[in-house]
Amino acid sequence: MITKPKGTYDLYGEDTKIYDYVLDTFRGECSLNNYELIKTPIFESSTLFHRGIGETTDIVTKETYDFKDKGGRDLTLRPEGTAGVVRCLIENKLYANTNNYLKYYYYGPMFRYERPQSGRFREFNQFGVEVFGKMNPYIDAEVINLGVKYFLALGIENVKIKINNLGSKSDREKYREALIGYLKPHIDELCEDCKVRLEKNPLRVLDCKVDSDKEFFKNVPKIEDYLCDESKDYFNELLDNLNALEIEYEVDNSLVRGLDYYDYAVFEFVTDDEKLKGASTICGGGRYNDLVSTLGGPDLGGVGFAIGYERLAEIVKTLGLVKTSDPVDVYVVPVTENELSDAFIIGCMLKDAGYKTEIDYRDTSIKNKLSHANKLDVTYIVIVGEEELKHYEVKLKDAVTKEEKLVKINDLVDELNINF
Ligand code: HAM
Repeated sequence: MITKPKGTYDLYGEDTKIYDYVLDTFRGECSLNNYELIKTPIFESSTLFHRGIGETTDIVTKETYDFKDKGGRDLTLRPEGTAGVVRCLIENKLYANTNNYLKYYYYGPMFRYERPQSGRFREFNQFGVEVFGKMNPYIDAEVINLGVKYFLALGIENVKIKINNLGSKSDREKYREALIGYLKPHIDELCEDCKVRLEKNPLRVLDCKVDSDKEFFKNVPKIEDYLCDESKDYFNELLDNLNALEIEYEVDNSLVRGLDYYDYAVFEFVTDDEKLKGASTICGGGRYNDLVSTLGGPDLGGVGFAIGYERLAEIVKTLGLVKTSDPVDVYVVPVTENELSDAFIIGCMLKDAGYKTEIDYRDTSIKNKLSHANKLDVTYIVIVGEEELKHYEVKLKDAVTKEEKLVKINDLVDELNINF
């Protein structure tokens, strides 16, 4: 038997109802905020992700699916959506004819070669938004608010926001030096990964799960002490906006995120419902003012987030937030094979009239067909029999009360309209 690749999954049956619910609600929230759908390729040139996400990030060094196509081009399955959206913005000059903010949403599969575990896959889905334009703390608050309202619309209440200020590029340069200066004398105490990170990407040492509990970590320099006034003002304004919207958050100085393009605000949404098995990050995002110019575009800021679908789906399932049954309005049953052609036409007529209809095509007894209909979540059963057809009639049976009556085929839709 050929099986699915490690870290992937099939989506079928009741789980597809969760996917539709989560996606439809996301679309609704994005449309309310006037965000436009954007779709970019699932594979892009490898350079885009190396340059966009950062050569030294875990994603680029360990997790990308890289391949050469038959023309010898270096390509990568997208590990996230932001870099592709920015590439599309630049390549199509989407910024050319507008002075206003450009607001997009997207959804689709992403690929990371990670160790598969609960809620984490090698092929997974993200729902994301990206907004482009001049840095503005109202826009950042709008983006965070969209996320907050989305989770509420799904019915998930216990979502906490962690937020941090990474400051400007020059703030981070100063902080980077201070961090290296502080951590170098402790290099032997760092885990193997952080020894490398210290040279290449010292900020990543901050959110290391292994090292952060060690004694020397207590006095590690804090980013807030290296921020210039402009960075502080911007962040305070953003927090004021969140306060005005009554959005609760926790400022977390250790939050740095795993992608290099961020500056100023970074944030994560963490679920912490008692019914769920512990906290998990379901959404991550932040501002990235240099990414567009780094990838060859104009000096245009960006801010956005991405929600991981798989963990969200588990939460929606555990909390029972979506009705997974999908009732059929009418089940059409021919009594014998001889009535199948009439049943087929009647069934198609009901679909044309807007009723969700299933026709029983099987060559089996009427008893079997009716007992099958009774097991399904059906509202009405239409029984098409030889005698009734002689008078252009069918039997309409209420699947719940079991009442039945004869109805002229021409009156069937009107009769259903009265009852639905
Ligand atoms: P990220 O934090 O790498 O950010 O991913 C966002 C979310 O995707 C995570 O919080 C998590 O829920 C989900 N996720 C990541 N990896 C996996 C996986 N292997 N399996 C299942 N879910 C996963 C980004 O990707 C940024 N592009 C977000 C962003 C948009 N920042 C600005 N704009």
